Amino acid sequence: MPKNILVTGANGQLGSEIREIASGYAGFRFFFTDIRELDLSDKSKITDFIDKNKVEYVVNCAAYTAVDKAEDDVEICYLVNRDCVKNLAEATLNKAKIIHISTDYVFDGKGHRPYTEADGTNPQSIYGKSKLEGEQVLMNIHPESIIIRTAWLYSAFGNNFVKTMIKLGRERNSLNVVSDQKGTPTYAADLAKAILSIILFTEMHQSFPAGIYHYSNEGECSWYDFCLEIHKLAGINTCRISPVDTSDYPTKASRPMYSVLDKTKIKSVFQLEIPGWKISLEKFMAIINY
Ligand SMILES: NC(=O)c1ccc[n+]([C@@H]2O[C@H](COP(=O)([O-])OP(=O)(O)OC[C@H]3O[C@@H](n4cnc5c(N)ncnc54)[C@H](OP(=O)(O)O)[C@@H]3O)[C@@H](O)[C@H]2O)c1
Repeated sequence: MPKNILVTGANGQLGSEIREIASGYAGFRFFFTDIRELDLSDKSKITDFIDKNKVEYVVNCAAYTAVDKAEDDVEICYLVNRDCVKNLAEATLNKAKIIHISTDYVFDGKGHRPYTEADGTNPQSIYGKSKLEGEQVLMNIHPESIIIRTAWLYSAFGNNFVKTMIKLGRERNSLNVVSDQKGTPTYAADLAKAILSIILFTEMHQSFPAGIYHYSNEGECSWYDFCLEIHKLAGINTCRISPVDTSDYPTKASRPMYSVLDKTKIKSVFQLEIPGWKISLEKFMAIINY
C-alpha cells in the first residue's frame, strides 16, 4: 500500500519543487493542494480531506511569506502562519504526521555563530513572530511533528532573490546590495529532497524523531556575496554591484543581521548530506531559463 502524503501550499516555491521530484518516490501517493483546493483556514475541510484520502503525512509548505507586507497585513499573516497551522495540528492529531516549515526569522540575528535548535528565539518582524507562534501552536497541540526552519529560499518557481538579481542585473548598470546581513541561501529543490528523505527514513526505521530541525545549504554569505555569485554564473558583467549597509537600504520589516543555521542535528539524525550554497546555485543556474 502506498503511503499518502498531502503537500499543502503546493503552488509555492517549495511545494512546487516537491511536486517536481514526486514521481521518483514510487512508494508514496501525493496529494498537492494550494489555497484553491484546500484552504487551511477551514478546519473541517482539512479533516474531511485527511479522512477521505487516508493521509499519513502532511508537508505544510503553505505560508504567508511577504515579509515587508506582513507589517501591514498583520491579520492575514497570523491567519496563515499561526491559525492555519493550528487547524492542521487539530485536524491531523492521531491521524497524520506533520512536517512543517518555518524560518530563520524566528531569531533576532544578534548572534555570531550558527544558530542551533536550542538557541533562544526573538523574532523582530510580524512575519517572524507569526511563524514562531505557528511553531508553538503546532508543538502544543501535535507534539509528534517535525519543524524544519529554513532560510533564504529560492527555486525555479515563484519570485525570489536569484531571479530578481538576474532581472535587475540585465536592466541596470549598477546595483546596491546589502553586505552586512549574513545567512545561507537554500535551493528549495535540496530541501524538497531532504523532506522526502525524512519520510523515507521514518518508513525505514519506523521512527519519527519529532522536534525542531534546521536546514539550509552549507556555508554562509551576505546578500552582496550572493548577488556577485549569481551575476558571475549568469554571465552578467555590465552591472556594477556595490555593497551597502542595512541602514542604507531601509525596509519595512527588520531582518536578522546574522541568521546562519547550524545543521548538525538534521544531518546526524537523518544521515543527510547537504550541498554548499555555491554548488547548489550552480545547479540551479544550469536548469533555469534566464
Ligand atoms: N521564501 C523564503 O525565503 C523562506 C525563507 C525561510 C523560510 N521559508 C518558509 O518556507 C516555507 C515555504 O516557503 P515558500 O517560499 O515556498 O512560500 P510561497 O512560495 O510563498 O508559497 C506558499 C504557498 O502557500 C499558499 N497559501 C497561502 N495561504 C494559504 C491557505 N490559507 N491555505 C493553503 N495555502 C495557502 C500560497 O498561496 P498564495 O500565493 O495564493 O498566497 C502559496 O502558494 C514557508 O513556511 C516559509 O515561511 C521561506
